Amino acid sequence: MGRDGQRPTSGFKYERIADAIRHDMLDNLLPNDILPSERELADRFGVSRMTVRAAIATLVSQGRVYNIQGSGTYVGSKEVLTKSAALTSFTEDMVARGLRPSSRVICAQRVAATGMIAHRLAVETGAACTHVRRLRLADEDPMALENVYFPAEVLPLEGVRLAESLYDQLAESGNEAFRSEQEITATVLDDETAGLLDVPEGSAALVVTRVSSTRRGRIIEYARTYYRADRYSFMTTVERESGER
Ligand code: GLP
Repeated sequence: MGRDGQRPTSGFKYERIADAIRHDMLDNLLPNDILPSERELADRFGVSRMTVRAAIATLVSQGRVYNIQGSGTYVGSKEVLTKSAALTSFTEDMVARGLRPSSRVICAQRVAATGMIAHRLAVETGAACTHVRRLRLADEDPMALENVYFPAEVLPLEGVRLAESLYDQLAESGNEAFRSEQEITATVLDDETAGLLDVPEGSAALVVTRVSSTRRGRIIEYARTYYRADRYSFMTTVERESGER
């Protein structure tokens, strides 16, 4: 994918429609502008509403548009990256938006798990862990500061490629992240963290605490990531549980 976020035109019809909506419409609309209705888009591109729906779903997952149920589809902000509820890595999030991800490693070391870390990773106190602290950038702009602990046998420090996607490396060794328990809280940044993220001290941030496991339920990471609140929003879909009311 190019730096301008343009994917090569791909095979599926809905992907071609997603590309067309991106280039014909999104680039000419402002954040929070409403898109034409599903029916209008279907007529305009000469495709079924189902294809339009799939194209919109792709754009939602890329953070380019967002839906308000019963109201319509709106243009997302270019500045604020709207993250869908899907389990994704930082690398995937940036690539989906046509940005180039990179990392600045602040520390990478082998440590013995204590207290909260042992508890969250469900390992014995004193068990060997890999601790990685990285500043994550998109097109050279600092976006997030990650502080992640992995059980050492899941991600040993030796041989790890710290500048690259750690989720990819977990997947390569058969420990693909499949499920995460996540808590999102708000904070104001201290001097050091604000400096790294290149925002004024006291700026707002979203703190995402994530415990991830494999499909088989093996815990593979305990992460605390500080996301710049001026660049990120998190989108979730909520649904009434059947039987309620
Ligand atoms: C996000 C998550 C982290 C995860 C990271 C992996 O930042 N909040 O919990 O460790 O993605 O990203 P990558 O595969 O790009 O290293």
